[in-house]
Amino acid sequence: MTDVVFIKGARPYGEGDPVDLVLADEVIREIGPGLDVPEGAEVIDGDGFVVLPGLVDLHTHLREPGGEDAETVESGSAAAALGGFTAVFAMPNTDPVADNAVIVEHVHRRGVEVGLVDVHPVGAVTVGLEGERLAELGTMANSPAGVRMFSDDGRCVHDPLLMRRALEYATALDVVIAQHAEDPRLTDGAQAHEGVVAARLGLAGWPATAEETIVARDCALAREAGARLHVCHVSSSRTVDVLRAAKDAGVQVSAEVTPHHLLLTDALLTSYDPVNKVNPPLRTGSDTSAMRTALAEGVIDCVATDHAPHPTQVKDCEWSAAKPGMLGLQTALSVVVHTMVEPGLLDWRGVARVLSERPAEIAGLPDQGRPIEVGEPATLTLVDPDAQWTVRGARLASLASNTPYEGMRLPAQVVATVLRGRITARDGDIRK
Ligand code: DOR
Ligand code: ZN
Repeated sequence: MTDVVFIKGARPYGEGDPVDLVLADEVIREIGPGLDVPEGAEVIDGDGFVVLPGLVDLHTHLREPGGEDAETVESGSAAAALGGFTAVFAMPNTDPVADNAVIVEHVHRRGVEVGLVDVHPVGAVTVGLEGERLAELGTMANSPAGVRMFSDDGRCVHDPLLMRRALEYATALDVVIAQHAEDPRLTDGAQAHEGVVAARLGLAGWPATAEETIVARDCALAREAGARLHVCHVSSSRTVDVLRAAKDAGVQVSAEVTPHHLLLTDALLTSYDPVNKVNPPLRTGSDTSAMRTALAEGVIDCVATDHAPHPTQVKDCEWSAAKPGMLGLQTALSVVVHTMVEPGLLDWRGVARVLSERPAEIAGLPDQGRPIEVGEPATLTLVDPDAQWTVRGARLASLASNTPYEGMRLPAQVVATVLRGRITARDGDIRK
């Protein structure tokens, strides 16, 4: 028998009076007030909670293969489902690198076997992320994994000729190139945002121009190639200016911001706690407020977690030796509510846009980020908007525990996640 789920009294997009939803045969079968509970249905008391389309993360590090002490497809999928996600894009900076059809198919197959979220492998742009030769983008795109997005994330595709060729292939294959925008010549040895805090702490600076210049260059290259460019983890207000101008000029560029670049600043660095070390680095308060405005206005299209688990030995060490990166899957929605909904910059429809609809559109996913309507896929997230919870890294589903939000009280809690009619997470527990 297929699952039948009855959500009683919830509010799609947090709008209007509560309605009931009947989910059956992988789709939304009925929506309306006072519906009958179908026989054998699992009932979820919606209690006026918000229903969103399932969240989609364009930027997740699942670390498999090769980094299984930090995360696996299984543990990362659990973290994703508990965080309200129904699809994630797994970055290729694994060991070996996902720069060929064998590895992307392995990651894809593990995602299907685990079955908690749709795991879409991102293929590397260059062989071994070395920035010297293009990987076989076409073979990965045409493999059963059906790769739609390519990135050397962790590293920038720095060579302009290679980037130009990658964008030309992207046009031909109708895929997206996601750039980690960082000119390595400007960030050699960098440890923190180049500014007052880094100067005071004696840490080598990562200038915002290292991001801005690559984004400007890539927009020009994408325009010429007629390609779709996606800019990973925008961190600087100056980059927003470049994106706005490029979009106004008709360049097919999209951009993401991470939850941590919406909330956290380099003021945290005075603790010297490497949990706050991330690439691109935490910047200033005027940058975080520029990120929020740009996301509200749509100059930045979406939120992506850059969920980057690391084992204790490379985070709980001296600053310069620590690896950059922080967990994000189970805290993303709450941080977006805290930084965007609470100050009135986004309503729940806006949350659906930046965490589900736009990412699904950018990656070309036909069955995610869909409207909450009868006949559409039953791929949904139910959220208690009034709940508060305290973040504890040790209790998160990730194998790693490098959360910068340890001990922080955050608003909004995922009550249930549903993937094509099947409950994958409910009340903080995973459903297998
Ligand atoms: O902080 C980061 N961590 N930024 C990246 O670009 C890569 C990521 C990782 O893989 O740990
Ligand atoms: Zn990156």
